[in-house]
Amino acid sequence: MLPLALDAPAVTWTRDVDVVVLGSGAAGLAAALAVRPLRSVLLVTKDTLDAGATAWAQGGLAAVLDPQDSLEAHVSDTLEAGAGLCDEMTVRELVAEAPDAIRYLMTLGAAFDESGDGSPSLTREGGHSANRIVHSHGDQSGREVQRTLDQRALAAGVELLDRAFALDIVMGTNSSGKAQAAGVRVARIDGNGMPLSVGLVTARAVVVATGGYGQVFASTSNPPAVTGDGLAAALRAGAEAADLEFIQFHPTVLYTGPDAVGQQPLISEAVRGEGAILYDALGERVMVGVHPLEDLAPRDVVAAAISRRMAESPGGVDDHVFLDATHLGTSFETRFPSITEACRANGIDPVTQRIPVAPAAHYACGGIRADLDGCTGIAGLYAVGEVACTGLHGANRLASNSVTEGLVAGTRLGRNLAWRLPEHVEPVDAPDSPSGLLGAGHRGLLRAEMSRHVGVMRSESGLRSCLEALAELSSEVSVGTTASRRSWEATNLLTVATAVVVAALARTESRGCHRRSDWPAPLDDWRRHLGVYLDGSGLHLDGIPGAAPAPGSERV
Ligand code: SIN
Repeated sequence: MLPLALDAPAVTWTRDVDVVVLGSGAAGLAAALAVRPLRSVLLVTKDTLDAGATAWAQGGLAAVLDPQDSLEAHVSDTLEAGAGLCDEMTVRELVAEAPDAIRYLMTLGAAFDESGDGSPSLTREGGHSANRIVHSHGDQSGREVQRTLDQRALAAGVELLDRAFALDIVMGTNSSGKAQAAGVRVARIDGNGMPLSVGLVTARAVVVATGGYGQVFASTSNPPAVTGDGLAAALRAGAEAADLEFIQFHPTVLYTGPDAVGQQPLISEAVRGEGAILYDALGERVMVGVHPLEDLAPRDVVAAAISRRMAESPGGVDDHVFLDATHLGTSFETRFPSITEACRANGIDPVTQRIPVAPAAHYACGGIRADLDGCTGIAGLYAVGEVACTGLHGANRLASNSVTEGLVAGTRLGRNLAWRLPEHVEPVDAPDSPSGLLGAGHRGLLRAEMSRHVGVMRSESGLRSCLEALAELSSEVSVGTTASRRSWEATNLLTVATAVVVAALARTESRGCHRRSDWPAPLDDWRRHLGVYLDGSGLHLDGIPGAAPAPGSERV
């Protein structure tokens, strides 16, 4: 059984604030900054401020800033990439607000690379029909966004509680008799992740901005902190998640060997935006004849084409292909300084050599169901950024729409909460009986199973085998497990991985970044979102079309 709370030492301290924000990436910081002038804000992060995925974003932020480009074209590219599952109104709102979001960031002090006339230099990535990606220091766009927001949020008086693990969302009942988020149980941890003390932070608004869950896979572009903690906590609190099966695999992380695990260096799609070409080990092009945009096709198309080519094992090479950017010559070093460094650290000189690359888990298109203002189905509980499923990305996110979304949604939510907070509710005591934790030692098996069976190409037999392995891990959840960051993360990874597999098994079609060898085409009946809930009897799915088999509706 999946635990409904994370075991931890007893609460020994309390705090009360107007707004508690969980997570310190672009979305959480933008929300904290926007709400701070009027409200007290506590920003809780389990590591340091910049340990999340924002700081690793290379490509940049998508927005229509070129007079030759149009909002309509950005809308159309986003819908096309989303493979029939985007919420068009959300897409239109995001695209319309994106240019102001970039200007706002620049006003806050973000320095973006400029073209000759002083306007932002714009590049292209997969699925975009125009140059509309703003970038900074070549390939360090996320770092610049993180630096700017860190500085501004702290200067504005956002209080930071770092090395603090948000265990569970604490609920209460509002004046309408409905469940409402009342705060969060937080463990302060030491440098080894061991609990120092546990407190209850009560708040009128709980903002979940903890990012994605790339670490459920053995190989990912995401940093180690990205373990789905906020999504798992929201599921335990009764929130609905959606589209969890749509995990985007970035087509090109640096291939560092057959046993590579953990965070892999990203080779930005902007490299292909600057003309780089994918080849297999025999020197044949990978993307010719696959899609009209060839190497700049949407990300799901390129990742799937690479996977297919690797499965054919050209020249006996079945686990990577090659990206040739040598036409850029030494300008590669100035345009992509971090990528150059990562390649050279692994013995590849991208100026003169083709870069070995492979797909890896990169972005969660689904998450806690929310609108672009961060509102979820639960009063007082908000979700922004990658942890949220707003309908912007549909079945496959368009490159560089994510940091833009985090900034727009976070700022909208912060402004709304500055305007009006939900009513105060008293937190209801959680049940005393322990739920058990998964030991940290099980993380490797979980990730290996997920990478083996829930990667770019999936099948019913593989998904069922993975679900069985996860069910066995559930039986290892034990009240004797030592509470620590590593075991809380392991327990959250188990909850998220199980929810992903249940959803992937139920979606009997291929669409966007969910590809099934046994259901190779998109089906009209499946042009819908799949909701996931967790309660005392397990996971439940909502949205399976009547005509389709629904193996995922089984309790896990
Ligand atoms: C990249 O630079 O390729 C990643 C950008 C993104 O994921 O949007």
